[in-house]
Amino acid sequence: MKGNLAIYPGSFDPLTNGHLDILTRGLEIFDRIIIAVSESEHKQSLFTIPERLSLLQKAVQSKKNVAAESFHGLLMDYAHHKGAIAIIRGLRAISDFEYEFQMALMNRHLSQNSHSDHEVETIFLMPDEKYTYLSSTLVKEVTRLGGDVKNFVPDFVEKALKEKLKK
Ligand code: PNS
Repeated sequence: MKGNLAIYPGSFDPLTNGHLDILTRGLEIFDRIIIAVSESEHKQSLFTIPERLSLLQKAVQSKKNVAAESFHGLLMDYAHHKGAIAIIRGLRAISDFEYEFQMALMNRHLSQNSHSDHEVETIFLMPDEKYTYLSSTLVKEVTRLGGDVKNFVPDFVEKALKEKLKK
């Protein structure tokens, strides 16, 4: 497949409608996107990598220009290996900015120091306002406490959350 490729990386523990909103916006800009779950994590996660990947694959199976993968090691190595020109990240609020800024600049440094012939840029996209306060963390907490997350995740994610968190 040809065309500009971007990587949309994350923990996706689990995928939310906010992530899918960013993905849809990304497809207006890039020809192809790989939504990629990182295998090297510092956070305690609820879903395993294969479980998260399977939820991502389900979510994108009808989108012909999107693939779901997992990656090991540095994001920049993976992006160069895939021939991506950009990294997509969602920015919800100012509170996201500091971490994202640090990560983008570190990634730029890594990209410039690689032996690749092109630099990988980070592109920030804003989700719809209705997802400004949405996060995987909150979705897990609300489900754990018996709340309804129907409007915030696809049906199959809601089902997976309930199965995982049932006592
Ligand atoms: O959804 P998250 O947890 O905000 O995603 C963070 C993620 C996975 C994009 C970031 O931790 C990452 O890129 N991890 C891969 C390892 C890496 O390249 N680390 C250096 C980043 S500057």
